[in-house]
Amino acid sequence: MVERILVTGAFGQIGSELVPALQREYGKDNVIAIDMKKPQDFEGISYIFDIRRYDELKEIIKKHRITTVYHLVSLLSVAGEANPDLCWELNMGSLKNILDFAREFNLKVFWPSSIAAFGKTTPRYNTPQQTILEPTTIYGVTKVSGELLCQYYNLKYGVDVRSVRFPGIVSWKTPPSQGTTEYSIAMFYEGIPTGRYTCPLREDTRIPMMYVDDAIKAALMLMKADSSKIRTRTSYNIAALSFTAKELEEEIKKHIPLVVEYRPDDRQKIADSWPDTLDDSTAREEWGWSHDYDLPRLTKEIITNLKKKMKVE
Ligand code: SER
Repeated sequence: MVERILVTGAFGQIGSELVPALQREYGKDNVIAIDMKKPQDFEGISYIFDIRRYDELKEIIKKHRITTVYHLVSLLSVAGEANPDLCWELNMGSLKNILDFAREFNLKVFWPSSIAAFGKTTPRYNTPQQTILEPTTIYGVTKVSGELLCQYYNLKYGVDVRSVRFPGIVSWKTPPSQGTTEYSIAMFYEGIPTGRYTCPLREDTRIPMMYVDDAIKAALMLMKADSSKIRTRTSYNIAALSFTAKELEEEIKKHIPLVVEYRPDDRQKIADSWPDTLDDSTAREEWGWSHDYDLPRLTKEIITNLKKKMKVE
C-alpha cells in the first residue's frame, strides 16, 4: 500500500527538514504539508490554515486518503509560559483530534514528546525510560498528558501511535523559535554575522541535545519499525549529545571569532528543571535507535550551511 502522509506544523523547525525527507522517500505527491504559513520556495502539496479548523483538517485527510500523520504542531516551552491557555488548547486539542481521526480512518501517527516531560524530581543523570514525570512548565504538562493520551488510544482503540521524547534539537534552516534549547541555534544565528551572542542560560547549563538530521532519522526509523517491536506507547527516551552552553561556545570558536556573554533570564529556571543526560537503551534495544552526529560534526555542518544561507564568508 502506498503511504500518503500528512505533516502538521510542516514548516516549523522539525517539519522544514522532515517534509523534504518524506518527499524523497515517498514521493512529492504523497506528502501533504499543513501549517499557518509557508516558505515561498516550497515545492509540493500544502494547505495553509490554523490546525484548530478540525472540520477542514478532516476533509483533507479524506480527500488525500491519508494513511500516516506526523503531528508536529506545538507551542514550545517559552511560548507556552507566555500563554498557558493557548499552549493547552493547541498542543492537547490538536493531539486529541488527530488521535480521533486516527481511530476513524485507521491512521498511523507520529507525535513528538520532549525532555520537557521531565521535571525537578526526575533523576538528573542518565534519566531512565520509566521515571518520575512532574514537569513545571505548561509545555511539559502537555507533553506528559499527550504521552498518556497516546498510550490510552493505543490500549483502548488499537491506534498505532508512536512517539519519542526529543532532546533540544539543533538545526539551521529555520531561525530560533520560542523554546529554551533554541539558545543553541541563536548562538549560531547571531554569532556568525556579528561575532557576539548574549546567552539566556548560565554557561554551565547542560541539556540533552541532538542534531536535526538525527531527529529526522529517529522519526523515520520509529515509524518504519515493525509494530510488534514498539512496546512503549507513551514515548521513548532518545539521546545523542549533552553539552553545556560553554562547550558549544568553545566548539563554535574553533571556526569563527565569537564573544559570548552569559545573562540568564527566565529560561534558566526551565532549563534547570530538565535532565543533564538520558538513558535511551530501551529505544536502542526495541527499534535499533542510534545517532550519527557528535558536537564537532554538528558545529561544522551548521556553520558551513548557515554561512552559505547568510552569504557570509
Ligand atoms: N526545544 C524545546 C524547548 O526548548 C524542548 O522540547 O521548548
